[in-house]
Amino acid sequence: MNRTPVTVRKAEPSDVTSLRELWSGILRKGGLDEQLADVAQVVATADARDDLCVAVAEVDGELAGAVYLEATTFTPLNLEPAVLAVSPHVFPHFRRKGVGSALMEAACRFAEQRGIAHVQTAAAAEARDANRFMARLSFAPQAMLRAASTTALRARLPQARPVRQAAPSASHRQRIDRVLAARRIRRERVPG
Ligand SMILES: CC(C)(COP(=O)(O)OP(=O)(O)OC[C@H]1O[C@@H](n2cnc3c(N)ncnc32)[C@H](O)[C@@H]1OP(=O)(O)O)[C@@H](O)C(=O)NCCC(=O)NCCS
Repeated sequence: MNRTPVTVRKAEPSDVTSLRELWSGILRKGGLDEQLADVAQVVATADARDDLCVAVAEVDGELAGAVYLEATTFTPLNLEPAVLAVSPHVFPHFRRKGVGSALMEAACRFAEQRGIAHVQTAAAAEARDANRFMARLSFAPQAMLRAASTTALRARLPQARPVRQAAPSASHRQRIDRVLAARRIRRERVPG
């Protein structure tokens, strides 16, 4: 298998236009300017932080693919450190040349440099090639990520039930009894 020379480096502001095009399918559905602004923000934030990196792969000086890396934890509750490799993506005309592998090698290096023992990534369930690629690299399926609009979720939830008032506690009941008794005594003392 002939290896195409691939170099991987940190993203720079001048990569924003190509990265927007590369990730257009997974960015928020907005106008071009909004997507460009989002990617510019992602690149700038990653550049300023040690736990983040946007790694871009180049072939013959041309941006061929990219991956977003974050040193984080397995989940918000499982605090085992893990590197999240988000959206490893290669332009179609650069696929099957080792660019995706170079991006995942960058993810591996990013984890090793921080002594992190796990790398997580995700691929759309229907993306057969991407899932086979991940499986070959030893990524095992862990969970199915599901999403719903808040309105759809609200519409499917059982109707809100009326909130029942809690019965007063024994000490609260005793306090009420004492107040009523004091009022009764005051009334009895009033002449007339
Ligand atoms: C998944 C993806 C990142 C892989 O990128 P890639 O650059 O094609 O990856 P590689 O070239 O390193 O490897 C891909 C396959 O080509 C093979 N390959 C690599 N170099 C090759 C060469 N010179 N000749 C022939 N085959 C080659 C690899 O062995 C690998 O085979 P496998 O999938 O059976 O394991 C890419 O297909 C992609 O961007 N897909 C769409 C986005 C996507 O779904 N991303 C996943 C998460 S969002």
